[in-house]
Amino acid sequence: MKKILIINGPNLNLLGKREPLLYGSESFQSFFNTLKSEYTHAELDYVQCNEESELIKMIHKGANYDAVILNPAAYSHTSIGVGDAVAAMDTPVFEVHISNVFARSAKRHHSYVSKYASGIIVGAGLDGYRMAIDQVLRL
Ligand code: DQA
Repeated sequence: MKKILIINGPNLNLLGKREPLLYGSESFQSFFNTLKSEYTHAELDYVQCNEESELIKMIHKGANYDAVILNPAAYSHTSIGVGDAVAAMDTPVFEVHISNVFARSAKRHHSYVSKYASGIIVGAGLDGYRMAIDQVLRL
């Protein structure tokens, strides 16, 4: 059974309440419970953190998994450290953004992670996490 770690970055603990027009009205915990019931043939873990150093430590922990699904949130656009952590990983990392960052302001168009990601899913809402899991299971 494949082990997959989902890591969400800053402010994604507020999903469901935060800018629902962009990010939807479901909390990630509720969505994650649904994912667990849908993907009984995978071992899914989920962590979220608001701080850069914590996020980097969690990416390092991804080495114990078959794949990581990472939404680095705002740190995608600002953190060379988060990009370096992904670059250092042998484990495949899929980058997910709930919103279409390319339809938003230019400061959200660049990600320090994308170059090192095995795949990038953008603008598919929470379904983007499903797409990433499906891809991992096909690998
Ligand atoms: C996000 C997009 C980022 O630009 C933003 O800072 C986020 C969420 C997304 O999932 O669409 O916090 O990563």
